[in-house]
Amino acid sequence: MAETIRELVSEKNVDKRIEELGKKISEDYAGKEIHLICVLKGGVFFMCELAKRISVPVSMDFMSVSSYGDGTKSSGVVKIVKDLDESIDGKDVLIVEDIIDSGRTLYYLIDILKKRNPKSIHLCTLLDKPERRVRDVKVDYVGFNIPDEFVVGYGLDYAQKYRNLPFIGVVEGAE
Ligand code: IMP
Ligand code: MG
Repeated sequence: MAETIRELVSEKNVDKRIEELGKKISEDYAGKEIHLICVLKGGVFFMCELAKRISVPVSMDFMSVSSYGDGTKSSGVVKIVKDLDESIDGKDVLIVEDIIDSGRTLYYLIDILKKRNPKSIHLCTLLDKPERRVRDVKVDYVGFNIPDEFVVGYGLDYAQKYRNLPFIGVVEGAE
């Protein structure tokens, strides 16, 4: 059976929430500059939309990570596939992620980045599945808490598909 996508969060509601997050982040970082770090590929749509709604100066960098493992089970150890281009020494870093699931990826990533001496490091995620958490990760800004369902759209993929959907949807009928 071919999979179908059921809408979970509409485009209008995602946009509205990103607007609110941008405003809150701008207030919290008043008088500062924010160095946004996007975790590729999933975080890219969210980071672009968020950055447009932040009113303090921002700079951006990108990094890509994958977890070591046999493909079906994450070992929880993160490998850097593409590292940042610039130093984060002394910067107010805000990591932008698509979704926090077990928390393993961000737990390791934050640990790695903290050693590079940023002035501060905070985390913003579009989606959070709190009930799936295995590793304790402090999330500073959350778009939406969602139930334990596999979602796509707004940067999130299922086998590299559906990243371009302008809304968040649940995959149904997948193998
Ligand atoms: P974690 O290390 O378990 O928190 O995994 C986070 C990563 O798994 C995310 O950055 C996504 O790439 C992927 N992921 C987790 N849940 C979903 C989902 O529902 N849809 C698409 N990707 C997901
Ligand atoms: Mg991700």
